[in-house]
This record gives sequence, structure tokens and C-alpha cells, in this order.
Amino acid sequence: MSHNISISPETIAAAVADAVSAISAASDLASLRASKVSTVGEQSAVSKLNAQLKNLPHDQKASAGALIGQARAQLQQAFSAREAELEALEEAKQLEVESVDVTAAPAPARIGARHPLSLLQDQISDIFIGMGWEIAEGPELESEWFNFDALNFDADHPARAMQDTFFVEPIESHLLLRTHTSPVQVRSLLERELPVYVLCPGRVFRTDELDATHTPVFHQVEGLAVDKGLTMADLRGTLEHFARQMFGPEAKIRLRPSFFPFTEPSAELDVWHPNAKGGARWVEWGGCGMVNPNVLAAAGIDPEEYQGFAFGMGIERTLMFRNGVLDMHDMVEADIRFSRQFGVVL
Ligand code: DAH
Repeated sequence: MSHNISISPETIAAAVADAVSAISAASDLASLRASKVSTVGEQSAVSKLNAQLKNLPHDQKASAGALIGQARAQLQQAFSAREAELEALEEAKQLEVESVDVTAAPAPARIGARHPLSLLQDQISDIFIGMGWEIAEGPELESEWFNFDALNFDADHPARAMQDTFFVEPIESHLLLRTHTSPVQVRSLLERELPVYVLCPGRVFRTDELDATHTPVFHQVEGLAVDKGLTMADLRGTLEHFARQMFGPEAKIRLRPSFFPFTEPSAELDVWHPNAKGGARWVEWGGCGMVNPNVLAAAGIDPEEYQGFAFGMGIERTLMFRNGVLDMHDMVEADIRFSRQFGVVL
């Protein structure tokens, strides 16, 4: 057993001083706590001295033991004091991080924008509501009879072909996704009292690939007026008013002879677009004509007594040439940056 061991007051003081400086050097609670074993715990210099007490000569044990006891108390206290200090510091830091400046301007919330097609559809509807017309709707899943037969399409008309029309299985159901809004003409005539002045906006479907000018799902707006004594002049006047509301007071329209099974005579409708990108010009806008007597008859109306006119155009196409949108993809991709150019209207 060794007796030349020294647990002098100086050794103890030196061990305490080392531990105290390690404790005060800890800059955050985590590192302070991690150092606890080596500064005040089992692994500390003071604990090691304590373990050697038993090796001291008997007469020195009591005084050395008392010194070590004091040293441990001193370290414990230094540790607790530093711990309290760091706790307070970290709490203050946390409060600063979590503080809210109630006077600061809020970050602007991003508001969504209605799709420009919806806006245009509403705008068109409003023009006709302003003339006393009503809005009519029909189903997108339509029966072949309303979409084709009642509109005087021949049984072998090419528009019925599989490559244009989404037929719905089973084929015997004779259901399809409507290829135009014209079936709403017949539905309106069957459902309403005469005279009828209706505008029918809605979604239509054709088996086209999506490209810069086509999309398999698009929108049309259909107009139908059935009354006593209507003539082509009424059709012209209505379309001219519509065109001016849409394209400005210098807009005018032009009708070119054409063919649709449900109108006779039929015409292609062009609009003089005074504000077109790249200069004023004629643009193909839609189709129109006087309602074919066969269509009136299909709806149980006497063509001798009532006459009608009708027209239809694509809403995507209208938006494209009215607002200089060059690519159909922009309209279907739902990118908010596209919609926002037309203004945020709720
Ligand atoms: N339904 C026709 C189409 O989708 C457009 C059309 C032409 C509608 C003439 C009409 C009309 O009401 O009279 O191509």
C-alpha cells in the first residue's frame, strides 16, 4: 500500500479550479450536461482523489476527507449555478425566436384566380341576360337522339363516326359525351313554353388529341331563339350586338353560306376583330342559321307558326383570338400564372 500519495489542499484546489473552469467554459446546456461526469461526477479529478482516501495514513484521512467533501460541494454548486445561468440564457433566446411583431405588415396571402374560360363564359351569359335571354343547361352524358337525331343528322352522317365521338358503353345504351351544345336546343324546346330565348354554355367532348389548337374537352356557347316571325335579320342583329359587346364598338360580323343539318339556311359566322393582335382582321367565330323545320318538328313545334334562329361557337377559340392566347395547353394546364394575367376576379 502506497503512502507517498498526496491529497494535499493544493492538489484538491487545483482539481477544483480545473473543473470550475471547464464548467464555466460550457457554452450551452447540452455541452454542460455532457461534461457532468468528468467535472463533478464519477470521472472527475476530485472523485478520483476521493477514491484514494483509503490509501492515506489514518491520521490524514479525516482532514483530507473534509477537504474533498468541501470540494465536491463547491463543484456541485458551480455546476448548478452555470446550469441555471445557461437555462435562463436559452429561455431568453427561445422567447426572442418565438416573439411576434404584431405591428409588422403581414405577408400577402396568395389568392386564387377564376379561370379565364369561366370568366368569359359568365361575361357572354351576362350579355344575353341583358337582352332578356335565359340560361339553359343540358347533360354532358347525352343520348344519341338529342345529340344527333333530333338535330336532323343523317344516320350515316360522318360526325357520328367513332373517330369524332366518345360513345359510352354499352353501345346499345345510345349514350355519348355530347359533341356540341346543340342538343340543349331540343331539350329547351321540350321543357319550356314558347317563345324561347336561351343561351346554353357548357362543356363538350371530341376525340381530339391535345395540341396547340385542340383539346378533347372544351366549351361552347349555343344560342337559340324560337318565336313567331323571326328572320335572318334577327339573327344578324343579335350576333352583331354580341360581337360589339365582346370585341368593341367597331366590331362587325359577316355570314358565309354553309351547311349544318339543324339549320336551313346555314352560315359560317366571321367577326371583324378591331383589336386583334397584329391588326384588325376577320376571324372565323362559329356557325349559325335558321332552325331547320325538322328540328322544330322533333320538339313538337309547328314550323308554320314558329321560326327560330340558332348559333354556336367555341369559348376556348374565342378566348384565344380575343386575348391573343397562342397555345391551348395554357388553358388546360391550370397554371395560376396564366389565370392571373386575366385579373383576380372572385
Ligand atoms: N354545333 C355546331 C358545332 O359544334 C356549331 C353550330 C353551328 C351551332 C350552327 C349552331 C348553329 O347553333 O346554328 O360545330
